[in-house]
Amino acid sequence: MFSIGIITASDKGSRGEREDLSGKVIAEMLAELGEVKHYVIVPDERQALSQTMIDMADNLKIDLILTTGGTGFGPRDVTPEATLEVIDRHVPGIPEVMRAKSLEKTSRAMLSRAAAGLRGRTLIINLPGSPKGVRECLEFILPALEHGLEIMKGEASECARP
Ligand code: MTE
Repeated sequence: MFSIGIITASDKGSRGEREDLSGKVIAEMLAELGEVKHYVIVPDERQALSQTMIDMADNLKIDLILTTGGTGFGPRDVTPEATLEVIDRHVPGIPEVMRAKSLEKTSRAMLSRAAAGLRGRTLIINLPGSPKGVRECLEFILPALEHGLEIMKGEASECARP
């Protein structure tokens, strides 16, 4: 079981003006992979988002941080920038798969600027903001996540496929 952190990037959510359904979808879908230890709703502000990621990774030692929202073209959409600022290794394959597979469902998938990467022993992944987008993207990447996290933590050395 891995420790999981959820960060919902939402101005309205952070003011209590919108229920965060996407964060709930993440928690529900990751129940078998690990335990949600921390869950916060943060306004769409780059520094607040990057500081939350740093705190979860460095102080709280979270294995996997999932963000939802703020990956589009809106003037306040800055989640990928906050993520790129704090990671030390890029993981391009995860957003590549999310966009490629999502494109089969909606051409709007190309509008997601989601990023993913490693900060020390923490994997950070951006998901879209809508509950539907979260559900679809997680379905695409979940099958490989456990193995990736095991390698990250030094718990698996071989990549032999079953
Ligand atoms: N990916 C999937 N699988 N399903 C979706 O419905 N929505 C897209 C895209 N990725 C979507 C998706 C849309 S409409 C946008 S604008 C971008 O994600 C960015 O969303 P965000 O700004 O809410 O993060």
